[in-house]
Amino acid sequence: MSGHNVWTHKGTFLLAAVGSAVGLGNLWRFPYLTGENGGGAFILIYALTIFAVGIPILIAETLLGRTSRQSPIMGMRHLTKTHKTSRAWESIGWLGAVSAFLILSFYSVIAGWALHYTWLMLTGSLVGADAQTISDGFDTLLASPSLMTFYHTLFIAASALIVGMGIHKGIESGLRIMMPALFIILMVVLIYGIINGDVGAAANFLFTFNIGDLSLEGWLQAMGQSFFTLSLGMGAIMAYGAYMPSEASLTRTAIAVAFVDTAVAMVAGLAIFSLVFGAGLETGQGPGLMFVTLPLAFAEMPFGALVGGVFFILVLGAAISSSISLIEPVAAFLVERFDMTRPQAVTIMVVAAWAMGLLTVVSFNVWAEGTIFHTLFGRSAFDFIELLTNIFMPLGGLLIALFAGWALTQSEVMKELGTNKTWFKTWRFLVRFVGPAAVSFVFLRTIPQVDGYVIPTLGALFIVGAFALSQRMRVSAS
Ligand code: PHE
Repeated sequence: MSGHNVWTHKGTFLLAAVGSAVGLGNLWRFPYLTGENGGGAFILIYALTIFAVGIPILIAETLLGRTSRQSPIMGMRHLTKTHKTSRAWESIGWLGAVSAFLILSFYSVIAGWALHYTWLMLTGSLVGADAQTISDGFDTLLASPSLMTFYHTLFIAASALIVGMGIHKGIESGLRIMMPALFIILMVVLIYGIINGDVGAAANFLFTFNIGDLSLEGWLQAMGQSFFTLSLGMGAIMAYGAYMPSEASLTRTAIAVAFVDTAVAMVAGLAIFSLVFGAGLETGQGPGLMFVTLPLAFAEMPFGALVGGVFFILVLGAAISSSISLIEPVAAFLVERFDMTRPQAVTIMVVAAWAMGLLTVVSFNVWAEGTIFHTLFGRSAFDFIELLTNIFMPLGGLLIALFAGWALTQSEVMKELGTNKTWFKTWRFLVRFVGPAAVSFVFLRTIPQVDGYVIPTLGALFIVGAFALSQRMRVSAS
């Protein structure tokens, strides 16, 4: 089989999966979503989803990758044949490829902003700047399609370069340097936050639960975020799992990935909100939290420019170790299916995602409001793409859970999991019932909140589709 590569070490999958999981989702999205959704309550739902739904599906997705040893699309094609199930399950692979492409398109644009801020910080341009200047600066960046496209291009090209060099020379070696550096930087920023900020207020904000604070939309966001942050349901983990040596423990690794990812989000949240509260700023700034509120906090603090620069390097490193995992599943598919060389495959994926990214770029300026897009979809292209991925990832996760839970046989799962029967039964119960129920529940809850026709229509399609698929599947599990 052409694509049958294996990581060089037993622990590389853990490194790669953590690299994929820890990203803009932890450093940018998690803090601002928490800030917008009232803090602790949001975190409670997020953490519950990670543990009851995220970890079991993480195991399921890795398992599908490792048993098939191919890219998600080809791997699912193979599994539907060997398990005599409907070809429709191949949709897991295709849906994943679409999600990867959509996520990469906006991910690279946002990472591009971080590139801009790394530059601003390290050149000391924002030292002592006031709130007005800093928020105007962000607006100027958003108003400039050419500047945003420039950074977007740089970022996506760098990611492509790493993936193009292959899983050993590119991805593995890149991660081996980046990941330890990222953890050190994160600690530096946390200590800085504790010294210069208000860590008590931050902890209070993050860990006080009041479930009434959470809106319906907040529930969907918390759940979507837990899939997003674990890179679940879109094939990245499946693709990396395909390179995982057979002797490495799936269960332990999956728990470690979820644990590290959650810890990074919490530490980042603690550090960021310490600085925000310390400077007496607002928490609910939305996406601008990292790019307006935080630079303002750095502008007023001792050594702010330096630590701010280091912080944005952290953001960039985390983003690039995630974006490579968005390119890999699609690139691996193109190599396997069409016998392309790796550079060719990577180029195709990246150029397409780059072009799609231009939609996100113009969402903040030329197409900001009043265009046909807004009339049709009730939101900007960026918001729409983000919404789609927020739906596709749980949907992919649901299908993965159903397939792994119902179509794989007990003996093959036991062999892969390498654990005892009790744990196997617990896992199977979670992926058969709890995961699918939780995902459906969240979608059902969003339906009454009619916001255009988009959410209810997709939600209904989602449930009908999942049901139809599960009917067509042959239950071969014992
Ligand atoms: N998990 C990444 C983050 O938190 C985002 C991501 C999603 C990466 C899906 C790969 C696949 O930033």
